[in-house]
Amino acid sequence: MRVLLTGGAGYIGTHTIVEMYAAGHDVVVVDNFSNSSPAVMERVFEITGKKTPVYAADVANEAEMDRIFTEQKIDAVVHFAGLKAVGESVRMPLAYYANNIDSTLSLLHAMEKAGVKKLIFSSSATVYGTPERCPISEDSPTGHCSNPYGWTKYMIEQILTDYAKANPDFQVILLRYFNPVGAHESGKIGESPNGIPNNLMPYITQVAVGKLKELSVYGNDYPTPDGTGVRDYIHVVDLARGHVAALNYKKPGVEVFNLGTGKGYSVLEMVKAFSRVNGVAVPYRIAPRRPGDIAECYASPDKAAAKLGWRATHDLDDMVRDAWRFQSQNPRGYEE
Ligand code: NAD
Ligand code: UD1
Repeated sequence: MRVLLTGGAGYIGTHTIVEMYAAGHDVVVVDNFSNSSPAVMERVFEITGKKTPVYAADVANEAEMDRIFTEQKIDAVVHFAGLKAVGESVRMPLAYYANNIDSTLSLLHAMEKAGVKKLIFSSSATVYGTPERCPISEDSPTGHCSNPYGWTKYMIEQILTDYAKANPDFQVILLRYFNPVGAHESGKIGESPNGIPNNLMPYITQVAVGKLKELSVYGNDYPTPDGTGVRDYIHVVDLARGHVAALNYKKPGVEVFNLGTGKGYSVLEMVKAFSRVNGVAVPYRIAPRRPGDIAECYASPDKAAAKLGWRATHDLDDMVRDAWRFQSQNPRGYEE
């Protein structure tokens, strides 16, 4: 299949390009580079040996999207494009609602005109809010999101569900990612956030490389085995392969899948695994809880295993080793 990846130059998108080619699919990318660098496509070429057509355009610009669908014969779309920084979304809610929702609407209009009937959407475990219990299955309640970013995911899920209801031959797959970490094993592509990272793993790698002084562990009084927050970290290559599996799943209507490992690790377990595997110290101090955080969040990955035939295969050691390889080989990210 020939697949359009919106936001394909980003962290998850670039890893998905690699796995799409490996599975025999063809790829086209559209990205406005608001949170990525055109230079990353050269890295993808070094890994795949394939020149990916890249459109530097905003997905919210419907005329640009029409042009892409006219110039390229597209069979399916994976919609990664979106803003994703939780704290920023609290400060700039309109920017988040505008970018994430407008881009989805323009994309749907353009797909409709072009007759493209399959869409895979990057949703998030954040739509579960504070889960009633773990592991979280796909039929757990959603909503009660703690920030505008989370609400955009919730609203887009609703928009796509309504659209699929009105168009019975349209297929929507909502992929709820847990916590993507790690990098491609070549060390050529990985996570390269702008400014000070919000998320745990890039913070750890930047402390390890000496860019940041120490990690603040947000709270050690949660009702978890060591008191620190527990999450379901998933290797980004496994996550990317989940998109390939979703592409091969052919059933009209809406399906939701968790993409997680089913295992939860605490903040301190992550720090210890990182130091043990990589032989690098990660100084840390215990800090107050971060507002909006929950104690524990991990997936039931059983539905994806049963229906997509997909399961994560990388373990925690792979995640921390690959995250460190990318950071140590690229101390300044994609900046030359
Ligand atoms: P990323 O920021 O690295 O990638 C997103 C890409 O989309 C960037 O290259 C950015 O330039 C582009 N983009 C943003 N708005 C655009 C627009 N209007 N038009 C064109 N391009 C646009 O983020 P990522 O980590 O690769 O995440 C991909 C998707 O997965 C996002 O929708 C994100 O919300 C979702 N997600 C990510 C995580 C995570 O922890 N990384 C977790 C759950 C869900
Ligand atoms: C965060 C977002 C979530 C988003 C997800 C994507 C919040 C409240 N939630 O989830 O919406 O979908 O990222 O990756 O931001 N931690 C520290 N010190 C740090 C950073 C994190 O102790 O410097 C802890 C956190 O308290 C948490 C764990 O590490 O227990 C993971 O944090 P993070 O990587 O930010 O992910 P989430 O909070 O799960």
